[in-house]
Amino acid sequence: MPAIDWTDTYLIGVPDLDADHRRLIALVNALFAVADAGATAAAVLERVDDLMAMMSPHMEREALMMAPLSGPGGIAHREKHLAGHREFTQRVEALRARLAEGGDCTTEVESLGVFLTLLELINVDYDMVGELRREGLLKD
Ligand SMILES: [Fe+2]
Repeated sequence: MPAIDWTDTYLIGVPDLDADHRRLIALVNALFAVADAGATAAAVLERVDDLMAMMSPHMEREALMMAPLSGPGGIAHREKHLAGHREFTQRVEALRARLAEGGDCTTEVESLGVFLTLLELINVDYDMVGELRREGLLKD
C-alpha cells in the first residue's frame, strides 16, 4: 500500500490537533509498511493498537471541544463528527477481528477503508474548527 504523504492541505489551524494528525498519518504509514512486508497478524495488530492508542484520546479531545456547541449548525456538526468517530472505531474493530481470525494482513488492511475514513475525519475537523470559531469557542 502506498504511504500517505502528509501535505499542508491537511492542516486545520489548531497546532495540537495538527500535530496529532501528522503523528496519526505516520502511524498509518508504519502499519502499511508492516503489512506490506508480510509481517504476522500479531505484528500488524500491534500497529493497529499503536494507532488506536493515539486516535482514541484524540477523538475524546475533539468530543470535549465540541461538547459546548449549541447552535443548530454546531449541534448538527457534532452529531455528524461523532458518528464519523464511531464509524472509524467500528472499522478498526472489524479489522482487528479479521486479523485475529487469521485474515491476510495486506488484504484486510486494504479492504476496510479505515485509512480513508481517517483522512475524511481530518476534513471533518476542518469544519469543526469553523463551527467552534463561529460560536466563539476557539480563539487564535
Ligand atoms: Fe482529528
